[in-house]
Amino acid sequence: MSDQDLLKKQVGYAAADRVKSGMIVGLGTGSTTAFAIQAIGERLQSGDLKDVKGIPTSFQAIVLARQYGIPLVGLDEVDHIDIAIDGADEVDPHKNLIKGGGAAHTQEKIVDSLADQFIVVVDGSKLVDKLGSTFLLPVEVLPMAVAPVSRAIEALGGKPTLRMGVRKAGPVVTDQGNLVIDVKFDNIPDPEGLEKTLNNIPGVLENGLFVNVANLILVGEIKDGKAIVREI
Ligand code: 5RP
Repeated sequence: MSDQDLLKKQVGYAAADRVKSGMIVGLGTGSTTAFAIQAIGERLQSGDLKDVKGIPTSFQAIVLARQYGIPLVGLDEVDHIDIAIDGADEVDPHKNLIKGGGAAHTQEKIVDSLADQFIVVVDGSKLVDKLGSTFLLPVEVLPMAVAPVSRAIEALGGKPTLRMGVRKAGPVVTDQGNLVIDVKFDNIPDPEGLEKTLNNIPGVLENGLFVNVANLILVGEIKDGKAIVREI
């Protein structure tokens, strides 16, 4: 396992430690959250945790929850979510995020926003001073609207690129059957305003800006040669 994967595992397990018996848990998407799902499953198998139910944010989360024995429920079966655990592609000093590296940000935003506590799990490489500095902003778009949405994004000063599949010919298709436009903005001075403006373009389903959603950031990093988990 690489050093970065070890940090992801450590932070994923630290988030899973915060889950208590009886909780309804939002299960995020991505390689860091995958460790949290694994850890919750292991705690259920060992009897350390009981009666936990997961709300998945993607096909990946469904597959992992089944693999690790976490019972799943839908949003129509619960009246609250106690805690959601999810990764991020960028985290700024105000705990605002860019998500969607796994094209799952639409379901993630629904589940993460509903949680009483949303815990973000990242390694230190995800911390940025300003959103958009290392990662393109994902925007989920209905397939028939890709061209007009791209033009509208250009008019806002963004450079749009249709996300293409890896080991799949053609574009990435989301779990909802839509496409993803990744947008380069030279800077994002008003993340809250941009989040709303993008979502107001006809044909846009959701974008990867998560403003005022995260409650706690758990950061896996190396300090004095040791792997630690820092809280923000
Ligand atoms: C998926 C996401 C992921 O949480 C984000 O891309 C981080 O993934 P990873 O933990 O693999 O770096 O937003 O849509």
